[in-house]
Amino acid sequence: MENGDSNEGYDSSLPVEKWCGDDRLYQWKGCWFRLQYLLGTRQVLDKFKPLPSDVILASFPKTGTTWLKSLLYSIINRSSGACLRSNHPHLLVPTLEVQLYGPQQQSFSNFASTSSSSRILATHLPRQILADAVRPADCRVVYVTRNPKDTLTSFWQFVLKSSSYEEPWPLEMAVEKESLERPEKVFFITYEELKDDTKTQVKRLAEFLGCPFNGDGEEEVLDEIVMSCSFEKLSSHEVNKSSEHSPWMRLPMSSFFRKGEVGDHRNYLNNEMVERIDAITVEKFHESGLMY
Ligand code: A3P
Repeated sequence: MENGDSNEGYDSSLPVEKWCGDDRLYQWKGCWFRLQYLLGTRQVLDKFKPLPSDVILASFPKTGTTWLKSLLYSIINRSSGACLRSNHPHLLVPTLEVQLYGPQQQSFSNFASTSSSSRILATHLPRQILADAVRPADCRVVYVTRNPKDTLTSFWQFVLKSSSYEEPWPLEMAVEKESLERPEKVFFITYEELKDDTKTQVKRLAEFLGCPFNGDGEEEVLDEIVMSCSFEKLSSHEVNKSSEHSPWMRLPMSSFFRKGEVGDHRNYLNNEMVERIDAITVEKFHESGLMY
């Protein structure tokens, strides 16, 4: 297993599939995981104790997690851009199954301190896996999603940057791998909505979090947060341009910032790929109200 750490949580009877490079994916509870995330996930389910004051950011990878981490941290801490200039967003808000549990685990106190009593935690785990563990705490959940074709394009580009995959990962194969109650507690947003009118959406998000921008001078704070969390601003900071690898994955810290645009899949996917993904999306999500 990776990093020579404990194999706790590994079950050799799990279905396994070759992924890109010489990596493997393991199927557990209907989802496919790389080994280190499977181990982290099983530890989350065994050990994570959510608190009612927690705010949990839930997202599929490449749907805007880094942006939302910056926004949530800034809204809750009423932070100017200073903290974002010197800390990568993933070191402000840790991801449960990647950074707080599993082979790469660090203690929550290693992440940037917050002036709020709310812990902000992120996860890429789907609802069917994490919901039972989190529901008793009745904490707030912010869920971001994104057009699947842009998500796939972003993900494919991200994986290509990983030093561990020497062979290029054909986009055709990536396309084949494309595998969804409580309104006061769950905030749902799409990357596209956030991109279209960031200020309005950040205002809504702050209201949901119970810290609205309605005091004296708060309009300026809101503008400042929107600006300091913008792709242009965040991607200009040295900490976010760094080619150093993150402590928890084999990728440069700069990998979380690529183009930050809507519709970039048109530059990569051919018509056949688009039709294939659209068909899968209709099949899987036609009853979800999430169709693009
Ligand atoms: P692209 O690859 O399309 O550029 P995640 O944070 O979930 O890994 O998602 C990464 C995607 O969000 C990448 O998309 C990245 O460029 C984009 N992104 C990162 N920070 C952003 C920001 N502040 N505003 C808009 N998009 C951002």
